[in-house]
Amino acid sequence: MALWAGRFESAMDQALFELSESFSFDRALYHYDLEGSAAHVRGLAHGGLLSEAERDELLGVLAAIEREFDAGAFVTEAGDEDVHMAIERRAIEIAGPLGARLHTGRSRNDQVATTLRLFTRDALGHVGEGVLGLVDALVALAERHPDARLPGYTHLQRAQAVLLSHHLSAHAFALLRDVGRLADARARLDVSPLGAGALAGSSLPLDPAYTAGLLGFAAPFANSMDAVSDRDFVAESLFAIALTGVHLSRLGEELVLWTSSEFAFARLGDAFTTGSSMLPQKKNSDVAELARGKSGRLVGNLTGLLVTLKGLPLSYNRDLQEDKEPLFDSVRQVLVVLRALTGAYGSLEFDEGRAAAAADDELLVAIDLAEALVAEGVPFREAHERLGRLVGEAVRTGARLYDLVGGDPALAAHRDLFAPGAALARRTTPGAAGPIAAPAQRARLEGEIAAARARLGL
Ligand code: ARG
Repeated sequence: MALWAGRFESAMDQALFELSESFSFDRALYHYDLEGSAAHVRGLAHGGLLSEAERDELLGVLAAIEREFDAGAFVTEAGDEDVHMAIERRAIEIAGPLGARLHTGRSRNDQVATTLRLFTRDALGHVGEGVLGLVDALVALAERHPDARLPGYTHLQRAQAVLLSHHLSAHAFALLRDVGRLADARARLDVSPLGAGALAGSSLPLDPAYTAGLLGFAAPFANSMDAVSDRDFVAESLFAIALTGVHLSRLGEELVLWTSSEFAFARLGDAFTTGSSMLPQKKNSDVAELARGKSGRLVGNLTGLLVTLKGLPLSYNRDLQEDKEPLFDSVRQVLVVLRALTGAYGSLEFDEGRAAAAADDELLVAIDLAEALVAEGVPFREAHERLGRLVGEAVRTGARLYDLVGGDPALAAHRDLFAPGAALARRTTPGAAGPIAAPAQRARLEGEIAAARARLGL
């Protein structure tokens, strides 16, 4: 019979058990649950509800249970409903009546909220660390090719030449904002629900601030019903992970393009590509496709939880048990993608010649020629129109823009802009894509990386 079965006359139907059990997945929380229970035991002694000897004995029992889990030796019983009940059942087995005091003044409702916050606090740190590892890989790739250039695209049409380091930094800044969001979510969830009980606190001498301090939480809950009922911290964490996943998907899509025969800007190392079961010549960028593909699942985990939470009345409802699998899944999946993508960028060979050839497409100089006219006092619309006409003629007739520009007296003097990299070097405004603006941007990126590391305590 379950530990809560006092008021029941018959055992739980097997179908309900299978519906309601969560031990099959929440056993992953055992360490955090035992950590919360140890703080609770100290809290009970602090309030005079356990003697010091009883406290120490119970702490020893919890440590023994942790060793059983660590060794894979924890023996599950058929009726173990969730990690909390399994651990309490085992504590009673080991310590008898003293074990039966463990749950004094506590409900699974404040217990599970405490356990999950402890888990999530650690998990967000690991994800943030993984994102920073990927940022480092992007920076390292840029450092291997400090002068490389490629076309920057809008609408996936060649737009203007950019430095590879500039392009990669665009991704790095986005990923650093992801780290910021993960850290924000972690800071907001840093509140202990322990002591809220089922929903309304307790008549016993419990001190939520004391146990919050033991668990390293920044503060105890302000409101017991809020403490047990909301999973906004899970939703927020899932959002921070999902948006990270969307950024990883964008990187993945770009790698698919870069490694295609059509672009051929880059090759992935053999260790990060896969072959075809039929076509002997194939070398596929599955790592990039899976980075793109996994993002759908991360978004799904977020939307699934939001739908679960929508319309729940205060305070705890069993629906909330559905918070764990999406959270575990998103954390696991994003960590795997981060590790694989980080390795893939480490293995990437960027083909500077191919990319530069595309970046030196002479039509990309049209805007620089127009701006050269503007610098001489020509209204921009007029300059745009003049270059547009020359580009149109070049495309229609197959003539080189370089030659057509040579035939225009106002423009002929600016033909040095066609030299490889010349237009890029002229792009000097702060945050621009050329070499002049690069050092300041690089310094800012390094500053933000250091700040993100510090925020995660790395
Ligand atoms: N396994 C449950 C969960 O994850 C623990 C809380 C159960 N509480 C209850 N009142 N039935 O939410």
